[in-house]
Amino acid sequence: MDVQKTFSSRSPQQVAAPGTVKVRPLLLKPQWMNGLSERLLVSHYVNNYGGALRRLNAIRARLAALDWTSTPTFEINGLKREELIAMGSVILHEIYFDSLGGHGSKPPTGLEEPTAELARVLERDFGSVKAWRAEFTAMAKALGGGSGWVVLAWSERLGRLVNVWAADHAHNLPGAAPILALDMYEHAYHLDFGARASAYVDQAMANVNWERIGARYRLAIGADADEGELFLPYGAPPQQEARISVEELKTALEDDDRRPVLLDLCLPGDLPRRTDMLAGATLRAPDALPQWIDTLPRDRPIAVYCICGFQVSGTAVNKLRQRGYNARAVIGGITAWHAIGGATVPLNKSTYEEAP
Ligand SMILES: [Fe+2]
Repeated sequence: MDVQKTFSSRSPQQVAAPGTVKVRPLLLKPQWMNGLSERLLVSHYVNNYGGALRRLNAIRARLAALDWTSTPTFEINGLKREELIAMGSVILHEIYFDSLGGHGSKPPTGLEEPTAELARVLERDFGSVKAWRAEFTAMAKALGGGSGWVVLAWSERLGRLVNVWAADHAHNLPGAAPILALDMYEHAYHLDFGARASAYVDQAMANVNWERIGARYRLAIGADADEGELFLPYGAPPQQEARISVEELKTALEDDDRRPVLLDLCLPGDLPRRTDMLAGATLRAPDALPQWIDTLPRDRPIAVYCICGFQVSGTAVNKLRQRGYNARAVIGGITAWHAIGGATVPLNKSTYEEAP
């Protein structure tokens, strides 16, 4: 779940309005992955992860309004079971997406190895990294045609890392902390691989981000991890006050007095990836900033978004703030907006002019 202030992997700061679990932005660049298509990854993030998040928030709202003394037991049972499944789905999907992707602006190479510390622990607990990988991937491939998760988790009780199977988003070794989760539900691969679950497993493993998994391990054992930058979307402004979550934006847009101006930034080469925008937003080319910056108001907040909230909006927000504008980058971009079920309108390119 989201960690609003630091985007670390462990912070409990996950709520927007009371009871609302916030969306976590994608850290991977979906257009740059090895053999996993943007269509697959974005659909998975928006529809399956976002769907679980929206379901969780709806269940929590229902639970918050429940009269515990008069509600029938079957209704309590049903809601609490669904809540557990939705919470598990949200958290496992966040670990899954966090565990994939390259470093900064670099795509995954497919050649990365676990951090030195994690490699030593895998060797201690499984005999070798190769043996761990063989077990983990065999478990995943064994789920082909079925569904579930394969999880690498740290068990304090057992004093070791373990590979565990999880079904219904609701199984876990009690007390164990997942540090890597591989989604084996068909929605995770069917668009790209059809029924070839085995090929998907190999491809997913070629996109693993060991640095973030290593940081999760350090946090699981109670050690310090330099996780701030690792769990922040690449290029997003590091200072909290220069960022706005999609939940905060949604609330602000419903308030006439605090309603921010919406700026939609898109690189020319990315226009074919776009079909919609937030209502009232103005579409601009980031490199043409000198042509449009003076059209922005200085007396109103400005929310700047791009596709996923990486360096396109982050760089522009830094420039705007240097010029005295009250600009904030929308964390997770329009993709996170989609994941919370935010409304959009068809993309309007009439204001779009490339830099000369
Ligand atoms: Fe999934």
